[in-house]
Amino acid sequence: MNTNSVLLAYATRFASTQEVAETVAASLREAGLKVDLQLMRQVESLEQYQAVVLGAAIYNTKWHADAHQFLVRHQAALIQRSVAIFTLGPMSSSASAKRNSRRQLDKELAKYPWLNPIALEIFAGKYDPSKPGMRFFERLLPARDYRDWNAIRAWSNALSAQLVHAEMLQPA
Ligand SMILES: Cc1cc2nc3c(=O)[nH]c(=O)nc-3n(C[C@H](O)[C@H](O)[C@H](O)COP(=O)(O)O)c2cc1C
Repeated sequence: MNTNSVLLAYATRFASTQEVAETVAASLREAGLKVDLQLMRQVESLEQYQAVVLGAAIYNTKWHADAHQFLVRHQAALIQRSVAIFTLGPMSSSASAKRNSRRQLDKELAKYPWLNPIALEIFAGKYDPSKPGMRFFERLLPARDYRDWNAIRAWSNALSAQLVHAEMLQPA
């Protein structure tokens, strides 16, 4: 296990989580951490990482299927590492929409009682009906992007500090 290596693994259907993952990774790197960014489904092993950040969106009240598979597949390694989670969901910037998505996520994460994230956040999401892969009934609403980049960067900066402090990760 490298002492200063972080894996940011994400799952996405329409790329908005990927863009957030890139921003989170950039903030962690600015703090001096070594960060690998990878699609969850392509991750073979967590052996070389000391901490893992997971990013995935909610669809129809469920967390992205790749995120569930990742937790099942890597349970043994995750138990031994610091894990932080961010989730895209609410299609509104309101507090009640965030609470609603949080309830959905909490229900999903309750399936993994061994999981004890050091940080857990919900970010407002993006909806773009012109994206390939949107089903007919999913195209009916207008395009919206509620992602709050200041909130995303603030969370990432706080996470960097937490990782450096809690894990004694050494900035490069
Ligand atoms: C068909 C569909 C269903 C969704 N259902 C939910 C939901 O149940 N709860 C929620 O919080 N967000 C929901 N969302 C919002 C997504 O989480 C949001 O659009 C997110 O940014 C998508 O991430 P991606 O672009 O990485 O796939 C839904 C979005 C779509 C397109």
